[in-house]
Amino acid sequence: MRLIMLGAPGAGKGTQAARLAEAYGIPHISTGDIFRANIKGGTELGRKAKSYMDAGQLVPDELVCDLVADRISQSDCEKGFILDGFPRTIPQAEALSAALDKMGLTLSAAVNVDVPDDNIIRRMGGRRACLKCGATYHIEHLKPAVEGICDKCGSELVLRDDDKPETVKTRLNVYHEQTQPLIDYYEKAGLLRTVDGTVSADAVFEAIRSILA
Ligand code: AP5
Ligand code: MG
Repeated sequence: MRLIMLGAPGAGKGTQAARLAEAYGIPHISTGDIFRANIKGGTELGRKAKSYMDAGQLVPDELVCDLVADRISQSDCEKGFILDGFPRTIPQAEALSAALDKMGLTLSAAVNVDVPDDNIIRRMGGRRACLKCGATYHIEHLKPAVEGICDKCGSELVLRDDDKPETVKTRLNVYHEQTQPLIDYYEKAGLLRTVDGTVSADAVFEAIRSILA
């Protein structure tokens, strides 16, 4: 199973990708998580990505395409993978397609988690993220067992730097301008599968499972 997750910032791509990865026993590859881990680790890549991310803008394609092509060629991706947050531009989609061609592989589907903008703005302020393992919670909808602590790895949960309301608005604009064209792109390729992302996380998961079955 080789999937990509499409959807606006905060649509629930990460939440669903983590569950799907567990269900199918394949890696969950989030480019946002990779950048955040690099920022936390003080690497050169993290330093380059940070200013774009804090402003709600996309990191340049050249910083992300090779990184993903390299990641999906690793041995743990032999049975498949779930890409969360990549591709985000048409050039990235083309780079992914070229990388898969080279390996003689194709995508299984592009899952679009559909949530309107006003719903997203309400969600983001309540999100809490684990910067160590990438797990995501919500202070009302998806609470951790112990407030402020990640269920999976025990690290402290934080409000992401880019979840301030002004930055969320910029991210939504960037999404509509640069990423939404991918919906058409994958529709034309016959790979698009859209689910309603406004229902509960469990119901979204069931909808995706039945679409992919
Ligand atoms: P990234 O980390 O990918 O952020 P994003 O796309 O903005 O998406 P989010 O992680 O904010 O949302 P999500 O859809 O994963 O939602 P979640 O499951 O957390 O990227 C961050 C930045 O990195 C970008 O802005 C860019 O700068 C850079 N970047 C990354 N990839 C790049 C690329 N390919 N090219 C260029 N730049 C790149 O859910 C959100 C909240 O809602 C959570 O609190 C969750 O618990 C809750 N929730 C989830 N589902 C539900 C539900 N059904 N009902 C109620 N609440 C729910
Ligand atoms: Mg995410």
